[in-house]
Amino acid sequence: MPVVVIIGGQWGDEGKGRVVDFHSQYCSVIARYSAGNNAGHTIINEHGKFGLHLVPAGIFRADKACLIGNGVVLDPAKLLEEIAMLTERGVSTARLMISQHAHVIMPWHPIIDRAEERLKGELAIGTTGTGTGPAFHDKVGRVGIRVADLMDREHFEWKLRNTLEYKNRVLTGLYGEEPLEFEPIRRQYLEYGEKMRPYVADTIAYVQDADERGEMILLEGAQGSLLDLDTGTYPYVTSSVPASVAAGGAIGIGLGPTSIQRVVGVYKSYQTRVGNGPMPTEITSGFEMEMLREGLGGAAGTAEYGVTTGRARRVGWFDGVLARYTARLNGVTSVALTRLDSLSALDSIKVCVAYELDGERVHTLPPTLADMSRVTPIFEELPGWNQDVTEARHLGDLPTQARQYVRRIEQILGVPVDMISVGPERHQAIVTRDVFGAVIP
Ligand code: GDP
Ligand code: IMO
Ligand code: MG
Repeated sequence: MPVVVIIGGQWGDEGKGRVVDFHSQYCSVIARYSAGNNAGHTIINEHGKFGLHLVPAGIFRADKACLIGNGVVLDPAKLLEEIAMLTERGVSTARLMISQHAHVIMPWHPIIDRAEERLKGELAIGTTGTGTGPAFHDKVGRVGIRVADLMDREHFEWKLRNTLEYKNRVLTGLYGEEPLEFEPIRRQYLEYGEKMRPYVADTIAYVQDADERGEMILLEGAQGSLLDLDTGTYPYVTSSVPASVAAGGAIGIGLGPTSIQRVVGVYKSYQTRVGNGPMPTEITSGFEMEMLREGLGGAAGTAEYGVTTGRARRVGWFDGVLARYTARLNGVTSVALTRLDSLSALDSIKVCVAYELDGERVHTLPPTLADMSRVTPIFEELPGWNQDVTEARHLGDLPTQARQYVRRIEQILGVPVDMISVGPERHQAIVTRDVFGAVIP
């Protein structure tokens, strides 16, 4: 049962793709288990720079099986584009498998996504507009179309005809949108189905067999736990079912919870968020904001703009209250701390160690959005190191102040930091233990 889940411990974009790309060397199966192409994972390795939305970051290692699990919702056009892009750039997708159970993003989903945001006015979430949320609505509403439906022409036509009739009533009556035509969708989606057919498999059986054989399996999380539907900063969250937490990994790939042996929490050395919702440690102006957002302090070309939407990410100091909350929520056994290099130009660095709410000290996520919006972060200030760390490959290569910073985060989380990422490229990291906890000499 050597299954490890890699999750984001903040609001997404912690560097999960980069961490999976590194750790996939120790595994034979790498699987995405949730979300859709709202996710955007950046990988830089010997093949070049990639932004993946659906294909697992293990795809660059030709001997690994890469699975898109039952918990994913997928936009066939985007997936096929991604496969074509990888092939064109010399990355084989021969070992990619797509779950028959995965739900399909249909043309009405992005339309509804955008219309919902418009109608919500001040309640708008700032979604990625990819249709991911409405596809999960349909999954829960039991009107979703699954990959298996696309594999059976007659069945698909019957299902599409009935679903579209219902969806057109919703589109026109509720959202004031134009109705969609049956024929172009029928033709287009059957074509997508044919192109996907070679990849479609019973991924549940595959992963269960691999688990039984004792193969190392890596589950690649999407988003971050603070965006989790159940336990995040609701309602400013994503819609994944299963969710953006490690426990969802078992459901989203078809394994029992006892298979999961380790959970790697990926945390950025500071904090970012895209979309709306409270962010107590946010820095809204000045030198420090510019420095973090534009990625000026560390490795070049790593400014904080979304991979999926290109939106500027909000930036802030490391929030120890929320980080400890998500470490416990996920049962994190080891931490990958990313973008340490991005702090290199700061004279001093703040870390939030508690919140103040109505004169009281608070150490966990406040239960209501109103309370969350009212908290005042209590900061501790640590000295900066003012030195380039992108070439560090061992703990001893780091300046004392940087090591001190990492140790403080370790103390706050109560979990060891086994990987410190000091740049976006595969080998720009200090790794003291592998993904299964074995010490790396
Ligand atoms: P993900 O969604 O969690 O996979 O993260 P994203 O790829 O959306 O965002 C992470 C960003 O940080 C990308 O631009 C990465 O190339 C970059 N990145 C990852 N690790 C590091 C690091 O250690 N240092 C720097 N400077 N950039 C990093
Ligand atoms: P990765 O996997 C950062 C955010 C959106 C929005 C909210 C809901 O790259 O870390 P949605 O389109 O999911 O309904 O939008 O969730 N969001 C992300 N933010 N990284 C992501 O994924 C995200 N996926 C969704 O910005 O605030
Ligand atoms: Mg991302």
